[in-house]
Amino acid sequence: MQRVLSGIQPSGSQHIGHLVGALDNFTRLQDQGQAFYMIADWHALTSKYESVEEIWPATQELTATYLAAGLDPKQATIFVQSLVKEHAELHLLLSMVTPLSWLERVPTYKEKLQNAVADLGSYGFLGYPLLQTADIIIYKANKVPVGEDQLFHLELAREVVRRFNFLFKREVFPEPEAVLTKTPKVPGLDGRKMSKSYGNCIYLRDTNAEILEKCTRQMASDPARLRKTDPGNPDICPVFDFHKLFSDAATQELVSTECRRAGIGCFDCKKRVAEAMTRRIEPVREQIESHLSRPEVIQDVLRDGSARARAVAAETMADVRDAMAMPAL
Ligand code: TRP
Ligand code: SF4
Repeated sequence: MQRVLSGIQPSGSQHIGHLVGALDNFTRLQDQGQAFYMIADWHALTSKYESVEEIWPATQELTATYLAAGLDPKQATIFVQSLVKEHAELHLLLSMVTPLSWLERVPTYKEKLQNAVADLGSYGFLGYPLLQTADIIIYKANKVPVGEDQLFHLELAREVVRRFNFLFKREVFPEPEAVLTKTPKVPGLDGRKMSKSYGNCIYLRDTNAEILEKCTRQMASDPARLRKTDPGNPDICPVFDFHKLFSDAATQELVSTECRRAGIGCFDCKKRVAEAMTRRIEPVREQIESHLSRPEVIQDVLRDGSARARAVAAETMADVRDAMAMPAL
């Protein structure tokens, strides 16, 4: 049977990129095998160690977002990383058999080290992808729905699995495979990648007024179209990328033809994007708020999910300790 695992760090609010890129994929995979969706609160510590008090509220908000996006806690196991201590034990054991150079050469490592706001020069940050490996393989997961930026981490996980199985002469872990989303990447309001640090996000909890304001005032359009009377080119316009993600086929068709013959202005076009986006986000936002107003339900989901995760993780750890000739007294 297929096992699916993925996770998101609780280090801030979720934006539409999370919804279209990750959460829709999580939801789609939850009934194809056994699915585990984690809140990676230990991973959040790598950058949030100076504001630890933000992590638990963000964990609850992310849980509400998982539920609002359509994850069903009866089908998928929704859990908190820090409540399954076995991940830490496996991380430690893997750290003994993983060459330092494998971690140092992960491209996201040096990149983030240089660009980050927080000081990431910690031991834990270097080990970030190895902890992620432990997260995945402790459930013997075969499929990992992630964004493209995680492919190097998945490659590391596969290498570590091969090394582990080779060293201890058994197939304890299967090699996990990334499942990329079919939807194209969601651009930010300025056309760059949507990211909190760029200030170019539309958040799932933004109000309708905020969505409209961000779309009409901040969204970049075809730079060559200066006047309303100039024809535009939707193929190179970031606004049209949003239409492709959120508008129905008829609207896309209409905008595309009218843009090319200067029959629609960019302001109107952006307003239509805002409307389409609002139709998609509003119900999600309402669900998030409604879940957040019942923190005890969120806590029950996490308590129950984490207990289920722990049972599976404990089984794997028994195999691991045995393979590594640890005593079981
Ligand atoms: N590194 C992932 C991210 O930043 C989060 C994550 C932690 C994760 N553990 C994982 C993703 C395990 C997939 C599987 O988005
Ligand atoms: Fe872009 Fe729409 Fe303006 Fe055309 S009308 S340039 S698609 S914003």
